[in-house]
Amino acid sequence: MKGNTRELLLKILEEKKGEWISGSALAREIGVSRNAVWKAARALEEDGHKIESQRQGYRLEPESSILSRQSIEKFLKTGGLYVEVQEEVTSTNTVLKQLAEQGAPEGTVLFARKQTAGRGRRGRNFFSPEETGLYFSILLRPKLRAEDALLITTCAAVAVAQTLERISGMLCGIKWVNDVFCGEKKVCGILTEASLNLESAELNYAILGIGINVFPPKEGFPEELSAIAGSALQTPVEDCKSRIAAGVLDAFWEEYPHLVEKRFLTEYRRRSIVTGKTVDVLRADAAPRRAEALAIQDDLRLLVRYEDGTEEAVGTGEVSVRVE
Ligand code: BTN
Repeated sequence: MKGNTRELLLKILEEKKGEWISGSALAREIGVSRNAVWKAARALEEDGHKIESQRQGYRLEPESSILSRQSIEKFLKTGGLYVEVQEEVTSTNTVLKQLAEQGAPEGTVLFARKQTAGRGRRGRNFFSPEETGLYFSILLRPKLRAEDALLITTCAAVAVAQTLERISGMLCGIKWVNDVFCGEKKVCGILTEASLNLESAELNYAILGIGINVFPPKEGFPEELSAIAGSALQTPVEDCKSRIAAGVLDAFWEEYPHLVEKRFLTEYRRRSIVTGKTVDVLRADAAPRRAEALAIQDDLRLLVRYEDGTEEAVGTGEVSVRVE
């Protein structure tokens, strides 16, 4: 079998999902024998793709929902992204960081169907079970000062919230600084990690990692997450994981060249579920302090007023907030 017969077959079957295509038409289009098409179809089935084969040919069943480069690219409108999907990795951020060090280009996007060591902010784990979530990282090489790196995360939060709202029909908000909520539950976390050039104080590269709970996990969320974590959809919508993946990539990639203009900030503020609320400002080395969240400043710090009337603009590096 030619190395890429499987890839090409999947591309054709994805684009015509649900339709029957004869073996000879497929063989002609790919430029291989019918036997090679048959072998490639078997290999795809072994990978979990639901392929039916009958006398009239082959078809990808409409409910086949395995995430693949082809299934995402089918919905992607943006150029300049190099999408790869792996079955299982430790953490897409960790693996993409290695690729970045080896010179991978900006726009490399790594998805994993499952992460065995997904990482969250503040050293936490990110629960990343198979089939029900989307876990991906985007390699960026922006000309950006280190102090502006938060623009990446916040812009991505807007891209996720807009996409999930469009596809789920549920209102999606953002909890400062980078958690996306659908209804009362957190459905997405974002972890941006960067390599810094100490001489120029600019980023060498950044890895934008996004984890979305698309469906409820088959065995439920672990107990420690169940009060806070939720999922964007309750029941499958055809191709929803691929649609969400492509939607987030398109929305982020459109804004990315304009990060420093902060065009997304109005939308970020509009979606904030923190401003106007009572919050607890949490610092690692101090007791929680009750405050009212007043506004998100242009520099993305959160302006709060404590109960004694003093105001402070808190940065995400120093504190997190708990909404009451
Ligand atoms: C958080 O909520 O604390 C951030 C979670 C970020 C999870 C994503 S999943 C894809 C990427 N790879 C990781 O290991 N983490 C991020």
